[in-house]
Amino acid sequence: MTHTTVGVGLISVGWMGKVHSRAYQSIPVVYPELGITPRLVIAADTEPSRADYARDVLGYAESTLDYHEVLAHPDVDVVSICAPNFLHAEIGIAAARAGKAFWIEKPVGRGVDETTAVETAAVDAGVVTSIGFNYRHAPAIEKAKALIADGSLGRITNIRGTFFADYSAEPNGALSWRFNRKLAGSGVLGDLMGHLADLVQYMLGPVSDVTGMTSTIHTHRPIQKMGTGTHFDVIEGGEMGPVENEDYAGMLVRFGPDAVAAGAVGTLEASRVAVGPRASYNVEIYGTEGSLMWDFERMNELQVAIGRKGDLVGYQRVMAGPGFGDFSHFQPGAGTGMGFDDLKVVEARKFLESYVGSRHLNSNIHDAVSAAKIVDAAEKSAETGQWIAITPTPGVTSAIRA
Ligand SMILES: NC(=O)c1ccc[n+]([C@@H]2O[C@H](COP(=O)([O-])OP(=O)(O)OC[C@H]3O[C@@H](n4cnc5c(N)ncnc54)[C@H](O)[C@@H]3O)[C@@H](O)[C@H]2O)c1
Repeated sequence: MTHTTVGVGLISVGWMGKVHSRAYQSIPVVYPELGITPRLVIAADTEPSRADYARDVLGYAESTLDYHEVLAHPDVDVVSICAPNFLHAEIGIAAARAGKAFWIEKPVGRGVDETTAVETAAVDAGVVTSIGFNYRHAPAIEKAKALIADGSLGRITNIRGTFFADYSAEPNGALSWRFNRKLAGSGVLGDLMGHLADLVQYMLGPVSDVTGMTSTIHTHRPIQKMGTGTHFDVIEGGEMGPVENEDYAGMLVRFGPDAVAAGAVGTLEASRVAVGPRASYNVEIYGTEGSLMWDFERMNELQVAIGRKGDLVGYQRVMAGPGFGDFSHFQPGAGTGMGFDDLKVVEARKFLESYVGSRHLNSNIHDAVSAAKIVDAAEKSAETGQWIAITPTPGVTSAIRA
């Protein structure tokens, strides 16, 4: 077996920076057959304590306060971009120009224009890209995708997706960068709807038309300094600042003629202020011969109903197991579940395989543009009340009809 060492640079050591780092470190253990050993070379964060943490705890050989040093480092082959949204386009374009493959968190830009600028830079430089669309990798989702593709559900007629989180359900939840239009772009649209748009396109194919509406439930929150705490924090008695983007978004969607689910219709909703659902990322898919239901809160379960006849028609609860996606790399048998961080290990595997050129199963920058088009259209439609056609994006990995 040939053995490849891949030098890793990390930009931003917040929640996602840590998760990416652990994912790289897991690769030789979880996927020994790949012969890929990531080496943590250098990490950057403008908050000195986080840069130190990357070096002293996460295991990077060096740390810096300036991300340009990561991109200029000769031992860095691939870069993880885990910065707040407003820096994604700037850093993504700089990474491409430095000739570095990059794994970038969603949303890649604050809208289609920024995302397309990153796409252009990546295509011009010919670098491999991968996007933080982690829900694709859940083994139950991979099984659901296969059941849709092989016709087990018949013709797909309608879908329902609800990405409901409570991370800001508390009115005194911190006003992190996520609520600032300049720093984040849109609110829950870019944060959670982008994930949902990608997930349904991955399973069912390109969306062709959308109409949407949005609302902001809590208009002011206590200010949180960048680089401190997390967006789950609650701050009592702090100075208040305005929320500049939406807490809730709802959309009607139609799938286009190229989609595996051509002609299907449905609803997509996202909220960051739901009380009750914690991180209930739910998709329901209905066909003429059967249906599927999956919820991230029960990530290792798939509800399946196949067939219309007999007394036992209805949903059956199936546990993800070795026949589902990458499950067997993590656990030997069904019932012992995987978790969120494991999805990032699968994502790192797909990114690194694509980088070394063996297989290209990763999401890519075109998928990010495609999701951004849906998010932007929902926001525009919320203002005008009109349906908006989504132009196709060449190069996506959505489920296209054979
Ligand atoms: N894929 C997912 O499920 C998922 C989950 C959470 C977050 N995200 C995405 O990951 C990104 C980061 O989110 P997070 O929750 O990790 O944020 P975070 O607030 O925990 O961390 C952001 C870090 O960026 C640092 N930073 C700010 N300016 C910088 C600069 N100029 N150079 C280097 N570092 C800088 C901050 O100091 C902080 O440590 C966001 O785009 C978010 O949408 C994705």
